[in-house]
Amino acid sequence: MAQPQAAITQIGQARARIDGPLKVTGTARFTSDHNLPGMLYAVPVGATIAKGRVTAIDIARARQMPGVRAIMKRGDFPPMSHITPNFVEPLMADETRPPFDDDVIRYYGQYVALAVADTFEQAKAAADAVTVSYAAETPNVDPHLAAENTKVVSERGDAEKAYAGAAVTLDAQYAIAPETHNPIETHATVANWDGDELTLYETSQAVVNHRNVLADMLGLPRHKVRVIAKFIGSGFGGKLWPWSQSPLAAAASIKLGQPVKLVLSRPMMFHAVGHRPRIEQRVRLGATRDGKLVSLQHDYVNTTSILDDYEENCGEATPHMYSVPNLRVTSGLAKRNIGTPTSMRGPGAVPGLFATESAMDELAVKLGMDPLQLHLLNEPRLDEGLGVPFSSRHLKECLTLGAEKFGWSNRDPHVGAMKRDGMILGWGMAACSWLAARLDCSVSVELRQDGTARVASASQDIGTGTYTVMAQMAAEMLGIAVERVEVEIGDTKLPPGAVSGGSMLTASLVAPTEEAIAAAGKALIARLVAGENTPFSGAEPQTLAFKQGRIMAKDAQTSMPFAAALQTLQIASISGQGTGQGTFGAQRPKLSSHSFGAHFVEVTWRPEIARLRASRVVSVFDAGRILNPLAARNQIEGAIVMGIGMALLEGTEYDAASGAPINANLADYVVATNADVPALDVHFVEYPDYNLNALGARGVGEIGLAGAAAALTNAVYHATGIRVRELPLKLEDLL
Ligand code: MOS
Repeated sequence: MAQPQAAITQIGQARARIDGPLKVTGTARFTSDHNLPGMLYAVPVGATIAKGRVTAIDIARARQMPGVRAIMKRGDFPPMSHITPNFVEPLMADETRPPFDDDVIRYYGQYVALAVADTFEQAKAAADAVTVSYAAETPNVDPHLAAENTKVVSERGDAEKAYAGAAVTLDAQYAIAPETHNPIETHATVANWDGDELTLYETSQAVVNHRNVLADMLGLPRHKVRVIAKFIGSGFGGKLWPWSQSPLAAAASIKLGQPVKLVLSRPMMFHAVGHRPRIEQRVRLGATRDGKLVSLQHDYVNTTSILDDYEENCGEATPHMYSVPNLRVTSGLAKRNIGTPTSMRGPGAVPGLFATESAMDELAVKLGMDPLQLHLLNEPRLDEGLGVPFSSRHLKECLTLGAEKFGWSNRDPHVGAMKRDGMILGWGMAACSWLAARLDCSVSVELRQDGTARVASASQDIGTGTYTVMAQMAAEMLGIAVERVEVEIGDTKLPPGAVSGGSMLTASLVAPTEEAIAAAGKALIARLVAGENTPFSGAEPQTLAFKQGRIMAKDAQTSMPFAAALQTLQIASISGQGTGQGTFGAQRPKLSSHSFGAHFVEVTWRPEIARLRASRVVSVFDAGRILNPLAARNQIEGAIVMGIGMALLEGTEYDAASGAPINANLADYVVATNADVPALDVHFVEYPDYNLNALGARGVGEIGLAGAAAALTNAVYHATGIRVRELPLKLEDLL
């Protein structure tokens, strides 16, 4: 357990994004901004049925159209390999079947052909002119779920028996509509096969994984595939793992010998690039009269696709969230004719906490108890699921500070009793948790004679601030200004980095950055002692140290910054590499490592015009030490906006007859925007978690969404007396 360095200069400072100027001036090049000489455009043809078989594909008309270079379909390029996912290599894909693998249609929008032409418009026209015949069957997109298989995720004590004997019980069911990731940048691939090596400009949250999957699928050596993602217009999990458009663009480039650009349309974002599945959950709670939990049962089912088993891990937070001796968590899947689901911001815990935190509120009502008190009363002292202590848990502080900032003690618990300006007020709260872990991650550092440094890693910045936080980390460790650090990421030519996912990247970067700097320092010391006419000539290397960017004699009499040392040696730069070991997925961790938080939400309700608004949100988080308060607050605010969308607006609807997502555009699939969102009051209680890394930082990408929807619907209950158990809330529910 490393201790923090003494001089704190760059960490904890609110820093605007160092890549901000590139973005606001339009000079940052996102995937679809790459235009290569001789580049062709590809547009996929998606199935217009959700179950059945392709019987014929007529390309005659499309092939004759102006500018068309190829209409590719099954059999037009060598077969590709299926992927058997694993997280270690990494080799992750949610849709493991390569495109055009057979003529069976399993979901609406499944790619059946690809039109390639000189311009985008020509390719689009040709794609529209392809005529596909099907033997169609009735798809199953039934939103009512029954698990086809069930497994126990976590169990302790005898939850059923304790429930049967409990003085107060609650048994409630909750459902969440499928949510579709809608980053502003749609998925895109620019593929360039030069006859030997494949380069892919990609919208990827994980370039190394993308490289591995594409190489394996296409049967190319991994070192012959390069994936580049310098700027990403967000992903929310939808860009974690590769989807079929990428191998399609690559296959077209290989076949035609020219670069190929493929950019998905907004409607295509609803077909074949993942979504948060529909989830149904049942929560049963048993408690004593005075509110001590004695039993918790959490059972859930999510839809998955016909070929792949994507499991939404809704019970991730359940075993450690509350102190309860008897617990049982089960998970099940229901297969539907819908594309494979994937991780969406806070996968598992976010929908899971909607259910458990709604149930806690319902139980509080049954007990006649303040929900805040119910939470405090059932706060665990250790992770009762794993039987190990928490690395750092300060949920009580979050709850207490949030309540104070919100003015929770002024809450009248009676439904509809609080009013302001002719509106009914509802006050609700919820607690939350999100895992904290590290991933395997390598970083290289170059120290230069001019006093600048370069840090590099094949990690990526999906808009969260990774460029900035990497510069802050290196600047901190080298004792130089952030402006003196150059960051290079988003390219598999760099040392293998980590996924931008699970809120784990920042924590994963600390150790390898430290190690890379130490390695560069050690190399510098070796040169200095070996060199002639340096202040350290002939010294024993172990009498020297490299700290805060300076070579120091351990007696502290002499010290020299790395720039001066490099000048003395007349060498331009010196490099080091570090590799940090992951903790994610450890079977028997010694500590339970999570972030925590609490949301307090006020809604206003005007029954006469059926107008519901989120009017005030106070949220407090325990996410370890905050490295950049500006970027961290920004992450939480964005997540709360998504939470308002999840509670009130977002839901993908599938037509029962065709299986098509019928609101596959941004007018009908509504996300929360400024008008839906009040001022957000975000606070951090800063307890550094040095068990996770030397800077004490955890992650902030996802936890802000956890619990947010429950806090809002709990507030709706307080205002209206109506319990919303299915998201998104519909105004009809309140009338
Ligand atoms: Mo996040 S859903 O791990 O991108």
